[in-house]
Amino acid sequence: MNLEKILYNKDFTRDELVFLLSLEGEGMKMLLDRALEVKLREIGNKVHLRGLIEYSNVCRKSCLYCGVRSKNKNFSRYTMDDDEVIECAKLAMDMNYGSLAIQSGERSDGEFTDKITYLLKEIKRVSDGKLGITLSCGEQSDKVYRQWFEAGAHRYLLRIESTNKDLYYKIHPKDSIHSFETRINALKSLIENGYQAGTGVMIGLPFQSLKDLADDLLFIKNLDVAMVGMGPFIPHSDTPLYEFRDKIPSPRVRLDMTLKMIACLRLIMPKINMVAATADQTISPDGREDAIMAGANIIMPNLTPAKYRDKYMIYPNKANVNDKPDQTQDSLDSKLKTINHQVVYGKWGDSKAFIEKQD
Ligand code: 5AD
Repeated sequence: MNLEKILYNKDFTRDELVFLLSLEGEGMKMLLDRALEVKLREIGNKVHLRGLIEYSNVCRKSCLYCGVRSKNKNFSRYTMDDDEVIECAKLAMDMNYGSLAIQSGERSDGEFTDKITYLLKEIKRVSDGKLGITLSCGEQSDKVYRQWFEAGAHRYLLRIESTNKDLYYKIHPKDSIHSFETRINALKSLIENGYQAGTGVMIGLPFQSLKDLADDLLFIKNLDVAMVGMGPFIPHSDTPLYEFRDKIPSPRVRLDMTLKMIACLRLIMPKINMVAATADQTISPDGREDAIMAGANIIMPNLTPAKYRDKYMIYPNKANVNDKPDQTQDSLDSKLKTINHQVVYGKWGDSKAFIEKQD
């Protein structure tokens, strides 16, 4: 295949994507450079922030890769108080972040879903409607998604994790609360309810092939989502998938694969919002900046109160666990400046792909 020619395509076949994902050295550099060029042309050098609140590590699920799976009894469970959530929202306002992202383990009981509704309304009230809100609270019913949308959430991230159904069931228990179909339907419900919906996958999973990753990209394109968050898989010793830690590529190769996935997606979906994930930074100190240079445009600084941080260990050695929000801001600004990017303050930073679809 002729790389120089392919890089000017907007659509790719599965074979072409496999070819791009297998690039190394100079070829890989050409792919990343092209993705950066397309990003700068389509959405510019702006980086939008989502102040991250890790609201609760209580989870009803037991995903085989995730450190906060319900079967892991090696740490205590927490749910933030209402006041603590509001304090985080005020901190985001003080630092002029345009948006918040509320993440949580998955619960579907009414006490939880009503609490989220209440918190959304409170955040809207105390911020005078100024803070944009992304939710990441797992699979919920159509009714709950509607309720949360009406309460003020307007973006929702639900990773599909892997679009290969066989692989999906290798990394999730085979039971009714971990159903592949339910997850796909939840994504469709989010889109139908008017959210800027986001999805994504883990990269470098055991049993995952380049064809799987190429199919993931085609699935994401086909679903026409507004946002994407993807990152490298990081084995956690308290999870069943840890057993296969020797069967996955090295951290460097997983990060490079993540960068190539981001770059390919930027070529196919030039205007979406794409997160430079904390997991990128966890496996390499400059991983987050590398992701920005490969086509990502969103960063999620952690606002979770210090006392909860080490209890939200979805994977080990999570980067930024000890960061102080105000220091983070200065170092983030200057780090991004060195790679010719600029943090945007005081704006929601919605996906351009979504905005243009509304017009
Ligand atoms: N490594 C990398 N990412 C993980 N996630 C969960 N566990 C891991 C892990 N071990 C990601 C999943 C999930 C999100 C909350 O974190 O993609 O959707």
